[in-house]
Amino acid sequence: MKISIIGSGNIGGNLARLFIKAGYDVALANSRGPSSLRDFVYELGGKLHPVDVDGAVTYGDVVIVSIHWRSLDSLEVFNVPGKIIVDTTNPYNEDGTFYDLGTDISSSKVIEHFRGGSVVKAFNTIWFKHLAETGNKTLPVEERRVIPIAGDDKSAKEKIALLIEEIGFGPLDTGVLKDGSKLQGVQGILYNRELSVKAARTMIKDAKITK
Ligand SMILES: NC(=O)c1ccc[n+]([C@@H]2O[C@H](COP(=O)([O-])OP(=O)(O)OC[C@H]3O[C@@H](n4cnc5c(N)ncnc54)[C@H](OP(=O)(O)O)[C@@H]3O)[C@@H](O)[C@H]2O)c1
Repeated sequence: MKISIIGSGNIGGNLARLFIKAGYDVALANSRGPSSLRDFVYELGGKLHPVDVDGAVTYGDVVIVSIHWRSLDSLEVFNVPGKIIVDTTNPYNEDGTFYDLGTDISSSKVIEHFRGGSVVKAFNTIWFKHLAETGNKTLPVEERRVIPIAGDDKSAKEKIALLIEEIGFGPLDTGVLKDGSKLQGVQGILYNRELSVKAARTMIKDAKITK
């Protein structure tokens, strides 16, 4: 499985570290180009491949999109049938307020830019410092910090779930994009909460009972 990451900031940069530590090669891109990623190469060695955005889209079987939601329109539209596109974004304005999307979901903009790919929403609920520090492969999966995943393609979600386990977290399938995004989104019950898989599962069950 080849992994690319678009965005080398708080989330993208830490995911590159975690996947390289887990044994993967990672192609990493940002807006300033490959030469700006020298420090990552110095830190992470030959498994880190600095590329431009086109190179990242071409390289990965899994392409993780980790730029600000409001920056998605600065990307081209890519045709990516067969690829898994992981959407880490949250729809924040620059001033920290979030966009009211009404009945739409934030992944719609990712789907628009990565046509034909299977979009999985993941890594959007966890603060980057916790992402860097709280993975723990020695714990049973149910007791690990949860990384919820939503998506319409079951097989794509299963692949991302395995990757999440390999970096020490616990995946939890929250359903198709439309349903899962409500739980994982900025107003959802799983957003920015320090929960184990078991606790998150219980929370979803309780929320359904009290509806
Ligand atoms: N921060 C968190 O704790 C957190 C937690 C969960 C989810 N998220 C979400 O994850 C996403 C990334 O957040 P972050 O905190 O990692 O942001 P960040 O540190 O500001 O990094 C953003 C990255 O996006 C790159 N970028 C912007 N436009 C681009 C373009 N057109 N092409 C290629 N790269 C581009 C930037 O490139 P340059 O480096 O060249 O400027 C930068 O590397 C956001 O949608 C955020 O809502 C963040």
